[in-house]
Amino acid sequence: MHKIKKAIIPVAGLGTRMLPATKAIPKELLPIIDKPLVQYIVEEAIEAGIQEIIFITRSGKEAIENHFDVNFELEKALKISGKNKILKSIRDIIPKNLKITSIRQENPKGLGDAILCAEHIIKKEPFAVLLPDELLMSNSKKNDLSEMLSQFNETKSYQILVEKISKKETEKYGIISPKKPIKKGEKVISLKSLTEKPLPSKSPSNIRIIGRYLLPPEIMNSIKLIKPGKDKEIQLTDAINNLITNEECEFNAIISNSQIFDCGSKEGFLNANIAFSLKDKDLKNIIRRRFNK
Ligand code: UTP
Repeated sequence: MHKIKKAIIPVAGLGTRMLPATKAIPKELLPIIDKPLVQYIVEEAIEAGIQEIIFITRSGKEAIENHFDVNFELEKALKISGKNKILKSIRDIIPKNLKITSIRQENPKGLGDAILCAEHIIKKEPFAVLLPDELLMSNSKKNDLSEMLSQFNETKSYQILVEKISKKETEKYGIISPKKPIKKGEKVISLKSLTEKPLPSKSPSNIRIIGRYLLPPEIMNSIKLIKPGKDKEIQLTDAINNLITNEECEFNAIISNSQIFDCGSKEGFLNANIAFSLKDKDLKNIIRRRFNK
């Protein structure tokens, strides 16, 4: 069995929930304090040992590739003006040995379709998927993706990260159905099926999928076989569900150990900026002084 070294980060969506901010600027480059969202996600992948990132992108989003490339003029200007700390911060965005590839998705036909665009790079290997609008603030030394990779290496089961939500929110997310009732404190859950955005009255549970997956290469064929589902999109949830229900691959859900911010929404984006500021000593004091908190 291959080790997982490749991660797909799809960035070809329209970002309609954050318009007008995302009319000309990709949602993935909106900053959380002074760092674009997608940089946090790439750092999370590197921390877990990923060695190759594959962006699924589209026209108008070239700035994402530029962010991870060398900006020769800027580096030269910073060097001449002696701004060495800032120079280091833009030079060290990614380690030298990290490979980055970009592939274009012609139309934003859904997350499943976006993943399928990388079939020729993934070949027959298992791989990770990280959705860049879900920002995770880890509560432990080992981030969730590292935990998922350890589970995969140990059990050879593919992994999906999940969290408990209130039942009335199920319509916004992919929802899991566990094989057995979940025991108190249980972190790893065997899966019976997945459903994309069910109505609260029809939802099999109140546990939602967070955008972190470890997937088998077989997912590519499964995506080819499915029809457009919820929101008329090719849904990754439906393709994984078919692999689970046809018993082609074993999947587990892991309960996240992080605070999660859906930065594709105004609420999540605002909360992430506040939470990350409160983690920084200087910014925390600024907020306290300004708002008397
Ligand atoms: P979302 O549905 O959250 O992103 O997809 P979106 O479509 O950009 O946002 P809204 O709903 O219009 O506000 C999750 C991730 O999958 C990517 C998006 O870029 C986002 O990072 N995606 C989605 C694609 O790459 N291609 C698609 O066809 C759909």
